[in-house]
Amino acid sequence: MHKQTEEIPKIYQDTPDFMPINGTDYLELYVSNSKQAAHFYRSAMGFKPLAYSGLETQNRETESYVVVQDKIRLVLTSPLKSGSVIGKHIDKHGDGVKVTALWVDDASYAYQEAIKRGAKSYMEPRVEEDEHGRVVRSGIHTYGEVVHIFVERKDYGGIFLPGYKEWSSDYETEDVGLKFVDHMVGNVELGMMNEWVKFYEEVMGFKQIMSFDDKDISTEYTALMSKVMSNGNGRIKFPINEPAAGLKKSQVDEYLEFYEGAGVQHIAVATDDIISTVTQLKQRGIDFLEVPDTYYDVLNERVGPIDEDIEKLRKLKILVDRDDEGYLLQIFTKTVQARPTMFFEIIQRKGATSFGKGNFKALFEALEREQELRGTL
Ligand code: FE2
Repeated sequence: MHKQTEEIPKIYQDTPDFMPINGTDYLELYVSNSKQAAHFYRSAMGFKPLAYSGLETQNRETESYVVVQDKIRLVLTSPLKSGSVIGKHIDKHGDGVKVTALWVDDASYAYQEAIKRGAKSYMEPRVEEDEHGRVVRSGIHTYGEVVHIFVERKDYGGIFLPGYKEWSSDYETEDVGLKFVDHMVGNVELGMMNEWVKFYEEVMGFKQIMSFDDKDISTEYTALMSKVMSNGNGRIKFPINEPAAGLKKSQVDEYLEFYEGAGVQHIAVATDDIISTVTQLKQRGIDFLEVPDTYYDVLNERVGPIDEDIEKLRKLKILVDRDDEGYLLQIFTKTVQARPTMFFEIIQRKGATSFGKGNFKALFEALEREQELRGTL
């Protein structure tokens, strides 16, 4: 499960990995209306119902719907009463990612190693059991109010986690071909990027595999800086952005203002056929950022030969970039909740291991056109 690559990057081969992670276990979003959010992820994004926790499972505090598409599991949680921690989180941030859960073989060990290296505890190792077996979970804080929960599920055969019941429904939707979480990007406050790079290096044993500065990522008006952190086997990749000085407010500034702090900016999900995936998502009402038509006039010159029909890419506004190892296709949704904060990236990698640097300028200009409409540039 969650296997993305068998190859271990060279930089890891001589250092033992003290924090082995098998993959992303689930992402939990705190949302204002979990029932309606679940419907959006099913009808528009192609997820299937998986599990439920709430009044019908004797949970009187929260209601969670778990949806799944291949290896991607999203937990959508709302409080059932006022004055809760979750309610306060939603009041401050709007809808957003609270938990990035990481699948490990030993959640107690992962927790001890992280705490020993300076992590702030969110949840001490806790055994949760039901008739399907036992799960151990533990958690640490990361940037903003986001947390990492380590999930050990080798002794568990249930549908999701103890406390959840299977959720099935007569309403069936086709998946759109989303496979796994490719990477997840965090926006942090000005001057904090290197702090969090250090955190992922020291506490989690991640390595920096790429960095972009304001010379790579700037338009006429705005700029940002980014460093990409990866775990030992490359299955977990967390780029971290911070704003850089520009003439106007950058997209990261806008995020920080509306999320009221650091948080998850985008979740990149992989597909094997981006043309089919994006065609279906558009038919179901997902809005994407659009680059100008002229982007495609010089595409062939910029990236060389590719398997896809450029006219199809032009019609769907899919972006392409090439690195030393191959090329990638990508596209970004508009933000998916009331506040202009989180969005999704759809990505198909054909050898490339990078993040689309060649698209940054066209992309940020598209983002700025959106900001302009919102009056937040
Ligand atoms: Fe991305």
